[in-house]
Amino acid sequence: MKIAVTGKGGVGKSTIVGMLARALADKGWRVMAIDADPDANLASAIGVPAERLSALLPISKMTGLARERTGATETTGTHFILNPRVDDIPEQFCVDHAGIKLLLMGTVNHAGSGCVCPEHALVRTLLRHILTKRRECVLIDMEAGIEHFGRGTIEAVDLLVIVIEPGSRSLQTAAQIEGLARDLGIKTICHIANKLASPVDVGFILDRADQFDLLGSIPFDSAIQAADQAGVSCYDLSPACRDKAHALMAALLERVGPTQGVS
Ligand SMILES: Nc1ncnc2c1ncn2[C@@H]1O[C@H](COP(=O)(O)OP(=O)(O)OP(=O)(O)O)[C@@H](O)[C@H]1O
Ligand SMILES: [Mg+2]
Repeated sequence: MKIAVTGKGGVGKSTIVGMLARALADKGWRVMAIDADPDANLASAIGVPAERLSALLPISKMTGLARERTGATETTGTHFILNPRVDDIPEQFCVDHAGIKLLLMGTVNHAGSGCVCPEHALVRTLLRHILTKRRECVLIDMEAGIEHFGRGTIEAVDLLVIVIEPGSRSLQTAAQIEGLARDLGIKTICHIANKLASPVDVGFILDRADQFDLLGSIPFDSAIQAADQAGVSCYDLSPACRDKAHALMAALLERVGPTQGVS
């Protein structure tokens, strides 16, 4: 089961991936969580202590590894292996916490389409490998948008979750992402409404319900903020968050379907 979570900046992507990862792991799933945001902060949402991460670089910044795997040197220019060996990388570079393997992937900013560098070849190949070859539940915390993945990777997800909040800007971003996702061939797209602080907020979403395939919602919860301020997972801090995480997980599993769910 391969799930990618995206949405406008700050809507709660990392929080939600952290909650889902913890709930799935608690239910006995083998879970790999991928932080594909250059501004990596999924670890604290999962509850990984900060000191376990201090020495860890995202894969996208491992220039030496990218060169070793692709055979690129200073002088090879654009001649290097575009599909390097990556199968050993997840185990070697992930951090284990609460039954979850966390991999800091990062992203590679490359100017214009068609530009490929060794780091980009490594990240792309690794992501494709994880999405198509590993038999576990993979959750990807993405930066806003899906453009940087491009064809050949992101369409391998079973489900794209777009997080929205009760405001027109997050809905605009969601609509843009959805259009692009459909162009890329992603068939199953659903939404989670987050930070609903009042009946007005709930009404705002319900009034537009025909625009979404709503998987569930999360209220605005001061425990989530408090967990973030303390650098811990809300899953550890608040029983209500744990319950919410399990409810969302159940909805997600139902949506993905039993045949996808078992792998
Ligand atoms: N339901 C909620 N109630 C209250 N605060 C929330 C809720 N969900 C998320 N937050 C807070 O909103 C902020 C943004 O959340 P988070 O980092 O998960 O968003 P994000 O979409 O991953 O952001 P970014 O785009 O920067 O990666 C955090 O301070 C988080 O604690
Ligand atoms: Mg985030």
